[in-house]
Amino acid sequence: MTTSATSNQNLLKWVDEMASLCQPEKIHWCDGSQAEYDELFRLMIANNTAIRLNEEKRPNSYLIQSDPSDVARVEDRTFICSEKEIDAGPTNNWVAPAEMKGTLKGIFKGCMKGRTLYVVPFSMGPLGSPIAHIGIQLTDSAYAAANMRIMTRMGSKVLDVLGDGKFVPCMHTVGAPLEPGQADVPWPCNKEKYICHFPDTREIWSYGSGYGGNALLGKKCFALRIASTMAREEGWLAEHMLILKLTNPQGIVKYVCAAFPSACGKTNLAMLEPTVPGWKVETVGDDIAWMKFGDDGQLYAINPEAGFFGVAPGTSNFSNPNAMASLKENSIFTNVALTPDGDVWWEEMTDDKPAKLTSWLGEEWTPDSDKKAAHPNSRFTAPAAQCPVIAPEFEDPKGVPISAILFGGRRATTIPLVNESLSWEHGTFLGSVMSSEKTAAATGGLGELRHDPMAMLPFCGYNMADYWGHWLKVSEAPGAKMPKIYYVNWFRKSEQGKFLWPGFGENSRVLKWVFERCEGTAKAEATPIGNLPAPGSLDIEGLDIAPEAMEELLRVDTQAWLNEIPGTREHYAKFGDRIPAKLQKELDALEQRLKDAN
Ligand code: OXD
Ligand code: MN
Repeated sequence: MTTSATSNQNLLKWVDEMASLCQPEKIHWCDGSQAEYDELFRLMIANNTAIRLNEEKRPNSYLIQSDPSDVARVEDRTFICSEKEIDAGPTNNWVAPAEMKGTLKGIFKGCMKGRTLYVVPFSMGPLGSPIAHIGIQLTDSAYAAANMRIMTRMGSKVLDVLGDGKFVPCMHTVGAPLEPGQADVPWPCNKEKYICHFPDTREIWSYGSGYGGNALLGKKCFALRIASTMAREEGWLAEHMLILKLTNPQGIVKYVCAAFPSACGKTNLAMLEPTVPGWKVETVGDDIAWMKFGDDGQLYAINPEAGFFGVAPGTSNFSNPNAMASLKENSIFTNVALTPDGDVWWEEMTDDKPAKLTSWLGEEWTPDSDKKAAHPNSRFTAPAAQCPVIAPEFEDPKGVPISAILFGGRRATTIPLVNESLSWEHGTFLGSVMSSEKTAAATGGLGELRHDPMAMLPFCGYNMADYWGHWLKVSEAPGAKMPKIYYVNWFRKSEQGKFLWPGFGENSRVLKWVFERCEGTAKAEATPIGNLPAPGSLDIEGLDIAPEAMEELLRVDTQAWLNEIPGTREHYAKFGDRIPAKLQKELDALEQRLKDAN
């Protein structure tokens, strides 16, 4: 659609202003139709940006290779521009809003020359639901517009619901204007990048990147960084969490959220095929949860997204058959390898490596190649509705009542398989000190252990210590019935460096224990760090695991925990006096319990 389908004066005025600033050749208002999506890809194919995959192998699907310099979220170029620096906190990059606006107005000037400005209206959450929020992304990337159609509810229907209402303005450019007659490149981007958030005015400005969370502004920028500040003001939670529905053999249902850092298996857990007979897992969301109190005092979660933007490498019919089924058609693949018959491949997708491929870098690849065929942060964009185990509640604007929240990361040592917190405060404390080895989802520092509180380190739109304060405060809402909190770790290794826990479908055993704890039927043993499964209460029937491995998985290494205390104190010290007193108390109490036990 080339003309606007709205009479929203603020929107029309803003689009006009931004078009004068960015000077695009054309403006296109996205209607969200299939014909429009097809046309976006026709243009991307003509520009050598995309190829269409083999229709028989992967119907209605495309492959895109990004510029090798633009492959992940750029955390060091991500800014929270609150009025006061202290409100961004020590874990975010901060620039004063007026100064950043000045910089942005300079670099956005003429940034869309020779390109089309796409107006992308989108809803985070089911259309028209009272908990959904509307954003409008202006972008010069056809790739971003096409991905937004899968990842959000997008198009004219959003403008109908918006009416004269408010929206979050989301500016995006790849920062590569074209002079008259200048040929385009397949993946335009700029080596200078700015991913900027203005929490006080609820705006997003993103410059220079076309990739993932840098460019699909509904996801990390809106649904986490801006939404977390909205949630704080309004008394709810916007979290980097999957949402799953767990049904026991008697048909009793519980819903669980889990926060793991990027590329640590949220999508796999959300779609897990339980190995415990009679149990069922269904998916409500795989990356983001918005949680609000229901009238009954429980926290209800919705998934604000409509698709999965999953890490491809490691995804297989073994690790996640439901993700594989979700992406079998109508999907977009970015930075994976191409097979000679026009399908996609990535590391660990199949046991046998194909004899020949074209790698994500466009180079000929064989199993002897010393480079990876797919980039470690290569992605699939797939409609959530295609997931065979999508829960019907995925579309329910009411959301689902949450019984338990899991925190976890990649930890080779120290952290047991599962640990139940003693209270909401203790659980908040465990979330605030969690750490994980860095993955390829962000640029730099692979494998390095870093604190990633609640898996929100790159996504919290305000001072992290105030965010913990908000977590503590929500539990004080009248009549609040808070979920139980658990700390899990699928990644503990033996001294020989082998994973001790098989993971994947076997994680259902841990889910079962959590479920039964919520029911009050499973037994736990008190330890200095929290409640661990009592002997025999974690169901390992039929699991081929050595008793020593099981013992190590559930061992509380008090000395290792004590060794972490100074690092935790340093982590807290960064936040000065903003640290909630209740968390300092939890830390002191943990140290005391560990010392007493040692
Ligand atoms: C994501 C991420 O893309 O966390 O979900 O990086
Ligand atoms: Mn994520």
